[in-house]
Amino acid sequence: MARLNSVLIVLALGAFALAAGACSSPAMAPTAMSTDSIGVVSDSALFTLVTRTQPFSAYARFPNLGTGPDGILTASSAHQPLIRVSMNATAAGALQNGRLPSGATFPGGSVIFKEVLIGASANLYAIMYKDRTNPWAANGWLWAEHRPDGGVAFSITNKGNGCTSCHSLEQGPQHDFVRSFERQ
Ligand code: HEC
Repeated sequence: MARLNSVLIVLALGAFALAAGACSSPAMAPTAMSTDSIGVVSDSALFTLVTRTQPFSAYARFPNLGTGPDGILTASSAHQPLIRVSMNATAAGALQNGRLPSGATFPGGSVIFKEVLIGASANLYAIMYKDRTNPWAANGWLWAEHRPDGGVAFSITNKGNGCTSCHSLEQGPQHDFVRSFERQ
């Protein structure tokens, strides 16, 4: 019995050492931090996500909007005068032939990113980030506006108050509240 106990202790210590080693391994840390597993919990975390972890400059353009190569189009209601809409790979993966399949919703971690431009340069970023269980989520999304320098124009803590009412108009509800689909 004493022998069995010491074997168990050795096994337990070994498991502890393995676990501690795994946690301190630098290779494990970054990817788990940013999106789905922990979620975006602050405006600065969202800004970091869309400018550094998954920079919007690499996103796919929102498909089939009939824009020229620069992706710019005239805004229809909010966020005048000009916009350019794009999405991260997670969001793009939900589309089939450029459209959201009937009844489908975007998966957690999806980003839909709208640059609001005056002339050729963006002066505001409007962002939707899918995270249904996030305490700041409204209609399944976080809603934010940032200045390109990172300044917060509309905080996620507003829970989309002022955004969701309009994103629920027209075909919003059947497109997971993403209204650019109405322009395809
Ligand atoms: C008065 C209506 C209205 C309000 C208010 C509004 N939006 Fe929108 N939004 C739209 C429409 C319409 C589009 C589709 C693009 C277009 O036609 O301009 C859009 C597009 C977007 C997009 C690109 C994804 C999509 O839905 O097509 C984002 C991101 C976005 N809005 C974020 C916001 C945020 C964040 C707020 C609140 C701070 C907000 N919007 C408030 C009408 C509105």
